Amino acid sequence: MTQHLAAPSTGTSDDAPGHRTGWWQDAVIYQVYPRSFADGNGDGMGDLAGVTARLPYLRDLGVDAVWLSPFYASPQADAGYDVADYRAIDPMFGTLLDADALIREAHGLGLRIIVDLVPNHSSDQHEWFKRALAEGPGSALRERYHFRPGKGTDGELPPNDWESIFGGPAWTRTVNPDGTPGDWYLHLFAPEQPDFNWEHPAVADEFRSILRFWLDMGVDGFRVDVAHGLVKAEGLPDLGAHDQLKLLGNDVMPFFDQDGVHEIYRSWRTILDEYPGERIAVAEAWTPTVERTANYVRPDEMHQAFNFQYLGTAWDAAELRKVIDISLDAMRPVGAPTTWVLSNHDVTRHATRFANPAGLGTQIRTPGDRELGLRRARAATLLMLALPGSAYVYQGEELGLPDVTDLPDEARQDPSFFRAEGQDGFRDGCRVPIPWNREGTSYGFGAGGSWLPQPAGWGELSVEAQTGVEGSTLELYRAAIAARREHPGLGAGADVEWLDGPEGVLVLGRPGFVCTVNTTGAPVRIAARGRVLLASAPVTVDGAEAVLPADTTVWWTV
Ligand code: NOJ
Repeated sequence: MTQHLAAPSTGTSDDAPGHRTGWWQDAVIYQVYPRSFADGNGDGMGDLAGVTARLPYLRDLGVDAVWLSPFYASPQADAGYDVADYRAIDPMFGTLLDADALIREAHGLGLRIIVDLVPNHSSDQHEWFKRALAEGPGSALRERYHFRPGKGTDGELPPNDWESIFGGPAWTRTVNPDGTPGDWYLHLFAPEQPDFNWEHPAVADEFRSILRFWLDMGVDGFRVDVAHGLVKAEGLPDLGAHDQLKLLGNDVMPFFDQDGVHEIYRSWRTILDEYPGERIAVAEAWTPTVERTANYVRPDEMHQAFNFQYLGTAWDAAELRKVIDISLDAMRPVGAPTTWVLSNHDVTRHATRFANPAGLGTQIRTPGDRELGLRRARAATLLMLALPGSAYVYQGEELGLPDVTDLPDEARQDPSFFRAEGQDGFRDGCRVPIPWNREGTSYGFGAGGSWLPQPAGWGELSVEAQTGVEGSTLELYRAAIAARREHPGLGAGADVEWLDGPEGVLVLGRPGFVCTVNTTGAPVRIAARGRVLLASAPVTVDGAEAVLPADTTVWWTV
């Protein structure tokens, strides 16, 4: 339907075995959370028309691509990660024509578009699942999901001991068409998100067809939701552990990171490669180790995988160095670029994580020291953008937005808040609609209200308030991304060179640059490394010496 971006940049090159070149190798990719980015029709909910109208802002920010979280037809039990129709747009976000216009407009501005693909589960309102329930036991459609009889004398117990990521059992019992209690179905997330059975050929066929549908629409790639979850261990064995949620991410689980998932991605890669313009896939794969993450980006699988180990790292020089090394080492053998990400729609924004003491994880409920958090967040971003590979920016982080930690319970919409008795459930705090203007209804988000309440003072963080203001976080992001474009050396390759520096200070060499990062809470005197290209806070250079303020990153050209 739409024209595809014709001439992708050649990106970077490298001698690493299997290394591929392409636009995505060192791309800066901006995540749009459509509900909260811009509201085109004034109903208080962001939409595709709103995104399209704001694309020039993203072009000016300098990013290469935009990843949009789901906008498909959905009852919104999990903010659109419960898809009822993979080929339709939810009316709250617009129409297929709006999607077409968005893709065309983006391409016209030189921006690529990545859409979210949700293959682990559908909505319980998906046609297959509705019919599977309505047809009752024995329905062939039930084989496309995981239906099982319960345990116990009367099938009253779930088929195994798995828990939902959102809390509570991972199984829900059905009611037969005649009103009697029936079989159970598996849902690793909310009960409204039944897991597909990927052993069934119809499921695999359907997703190959969905891929083609969106590739024909002109999208440049897919962010693959729960890429580690599609295949479950044979027989759905009990886990036998008492605190499953604590285990998540540390062990191979019978429902996560099974080797069988890779066959699926190999088949998808052949489809992506049939299309011109280097269409990509990026895995959302939570795995026990970065080495296991690397399996998803072998040369015949996906192109990128999110680096959640990096996202979870504290603001600490030694920890950061370790995770950077581990990440680069893990990706080198498979020739894939490393990715870097600090925030997304599932975790507390990094300005708030870094405002709080280390070790609290990625779901934080306290605002902490906001000034400290912002200072560190700006420094962390400059470090991220100096690393080789591709970087992801979550909408609003370029404004230095903190999480909104005091949302009233009645405003919350995240299903994990309702199911998990407070264990997680704070994802709404990073999803509050972003401020475009200083004043006005919803600070320029739209002509109506805002589906989550915006805090007082939000307008002072707006795009309007920061544009053209020297030292603002927005101008820092613009300058940093522009510098990455102007000096491809910054994102290129697969290595960093560690240079000596004082305790708590990282000094890393990049082609033509040195990046110095003071993670300590006090100013540190260092040898000046050349000419200051960019700094997250004012730096004083005095001849051959420089004073790095506390929690500050400086890029030097050498
Ligand atoms: C990961 C998504 O990022 C998250 O928002 C969602 O709740 C789960 N996958 C389930 O789809």
